[in-house]
Formats: sequence, structure tokens, C-alpha cells
Amino acid sequence: MKFLACIILIAFVLMISCDSSQRDSRSGNANSPSIEVSSFGRIPDAGEVKMYKLDNGRGMVVEIINYGAIIKSIQVPDDKGDIRDITLGFDRLEGYLTEHPYFGTVIGRYGNRIANGSFQIDGQQYSLATNNGPNHLHGGLNGFDKVLWDEVRQWKDQDSLHLELSYLSPDGEEGYPGNLQVILRYSLTSNNEIIINYKARTDQKTHVNLTNHSYFNLDDSPTIEDHELKIIASQFTPVDNTLIPTGVIDNVSGGPFDFTSLKRIGEHIGSNNQQIEIGGGYDHNFVLNKPSLESPSITVRSNLSRIAMDVYTLEPGVQFYTGNFLDGSIVGKSGGVYEKRSGFCLETQHFPDSPNHEDFPSTLLNPGEEYTTTTIYRFYNF
Ligand code: BGC
Repeated sequence: MKFLACIILIAFVLMISCDSSQRDSRSGNANSPSIEVSSFGRIPDAGEVKMYKLDNGRGMVVEIINYGAIIKSIQVPDDKGDIRDITLGFDRLEGYLTEHPYFGTVIGRYGNRIANGSFQIDGQQYSLATNNGPNHLHGGLNGFDKVLWDEVRQWKDQDSLHLELSYLSPDGEEGYPGNLQVILRYSLTSNNEIIINYKARTDQKTHVNLTNHSYFNLDDSPTIEDHELKIIASQFTPVDNTLIPTGVIDNVSGGPFDFTSLKRIGEHIGSNNQQIEIGGGYDHNFVLNKPSLESPSITVRSNLSRIAMDVYTLEPGVQFYTGNFLDGSIVGKSGGVYEKRSGFCLETQHFPDSPNHEDFPSTLLNPGEEYTTTTIYRFYNF
């Protein structure tokens, strides 16, 4: 009898401990938040590249390198509690030093295109590097994505881990006027959010439009066409055939550009629509109805992994790009081949070519002013 009672007691204890370990691994409460710094290699003549691993102790990890201020990975739990890296990129520094389409990089001084690489400020003409047909794209030949950023500081507070990086862009770099001091802060919160805050100051009038160019794929499918997307934008800015806004602001009104309620990305991507044809898919700026850090302007989710991402931003627009120019020629993380549309970008920013469109929200930064903007990416299971 005693023996039987003993067996029952042991079985009971085993059941309890098994159940609680399952709970722990799902809630991911096991570790305390940490920032780990390691070497990610060296760039001849520039120096050591550091990697910062931010781990919020709740199952979410973000790796950032100070070359290009690149987000190398975003690791989040799926609905089964398995951790998935949901961004495109490379395992090693060598990959990031090759010609690649801005995987995870910061973009500056100007996100997206400036027509013919030129603008005027107070009647003076400035000529920028042209690196995309006739146009200037993503800051030029050697934009902020290809420079080594300095570490300012890294710290933890009650809810978050923070990393601050800085870069001084000298007067005349890529053709832009003014010395521009930029400070970028990445935070990872205990609520599975990445917060990016951008700040900049100049000593001469210049144009600034900073963003992050992460490519997401929430379930590792060969294309992202089955992801569902919502962008609270009633309007978008159509482009000419060099992807420069025509200046018209069009209503999305039920057409392929209408993502005002959740819709499969692929739903209309093959449609017979002139704008879709020009972009080879989506490669357009959406005019956000109500940019805010209180409620998300964008939601995207995968029914396979049941991972969802909400994007909150103070920026007036978002460039939604469906990786149309990926063509299988890049071998990325773990030997994965990046085929057309294997990732999408949501680049929160001012509109492309704003310096040449007076009626677009201005990107001009004056000496004495501070450029500051914030975007939040929140991850969860649904
Ligand atoms: C642009 C695309 C470009 C891609 C990679 C996106 O922001 O809108 O046209 O191909 O970046 O450079």
C-alpha cells in the first residue's frame, strides 16, 4: 500500500514539473535580458565590426552590427514556441560586404529615390551621386548602409535594452550639403517590440529621410505572397517608369493598392495594372492616414507560423516593396537562395523625391533644428 502511494506521489510530482517546464518555455521567462557584444570581423582600413545581441529573455533576440547599422536577425517565437529568424540577410560579414539590396540596413541620407540626383535649396542646385539609372537611390553609392557606425552607448532599463550608434556624414558626402550628425537608437522591449529612434542635426540646410530596410518573411516560405497585410492608407503615390512619383496622389479605392483591411499580399500582385507592372509588384509609397505611436498603421501576419507584426510610426509614408528585384542570385543565411518576392520591406519614411515636390511633407532640415522620428515593430502570435 505504502509502495503504491509512493508511486502515485512520484507520478504526480513528475506531471507537475513537466507541466511547469512547458509553461516556462512558452512564456520564455527563463532568462534575464542581456546585451552580448562580439566581433563580427574586420573591414580593411575601417576596423573591427561589432555584433550586438539583444536578448529580452522572453524568447526574442535581435542581432545588430555596426557596419551599416544593420539588423542582422530578428528572432521571434512562432505559435509552437519555436524560435524563427524572420529576416533576410547573411550569416557572415563577407555577405554584407558584397553588392546586396540593403538587407537590414539603415538608409540615409535619403530613403528611396531623388529624381536625376538633383534638388535645389534656396536657389542653389545640388547634384547627388546617381546610382539607379538616372536617379539617386538610398543615399547614393556609399550611403549610411556602407559605413561603420560608432557605438555611443548601450544600456538596460527596467523594460528595455538599448543600443545607440552614431555617424557623422561630412559636408558634400554623396553630394549633400552640410555636416550631418546622426544618432540611431535601437531598443528591444520586454513586450517584443523593436523601437528605432533616429535623430540628426546639420550645420547647413540639407535633406534627410532615414529608414530601415529590413526584409521580412514571417514563415520562411519561398515567397511572401500568402502573408496577409493591412496598411491604413487611403492613398498612394503612383510612379513613372523610373519609379519616381509623378506628383499625383491617388486613392487606393478598392484596387490592388487597397490594403485598408487585411488582404493576401499576392491577391492582386499579378493584376493587369499599370502601376503594378512598373514596379514588377509593389514598390510604392503609401500615404498613411494617421501616423502614430499609439495605434499601428500596418499589420502583417502569416497563417503558417502565426507570427504577426504591427508597425507604428511617426512617418507620413511607407514604401511597401515586395522584393521584386530578388532573382535567386543571392545565397543568404544558412545557404538559403533568395528568389523573387522571398521577402518584403516596409520602409517607414517621407515620400520619395520630396525635395522636388513642394506639396509633399518636407524633408528639409535646417541648422538649429533636430530631426527626430520613431518607428516601432511589435511581434506577437495570433
Ligand atoms: C526600392 C526598390 C529597390 C529596393 C532595393 C526599395 O526601397 O523602392 O525599388 O529595388 O529598395 O534597393
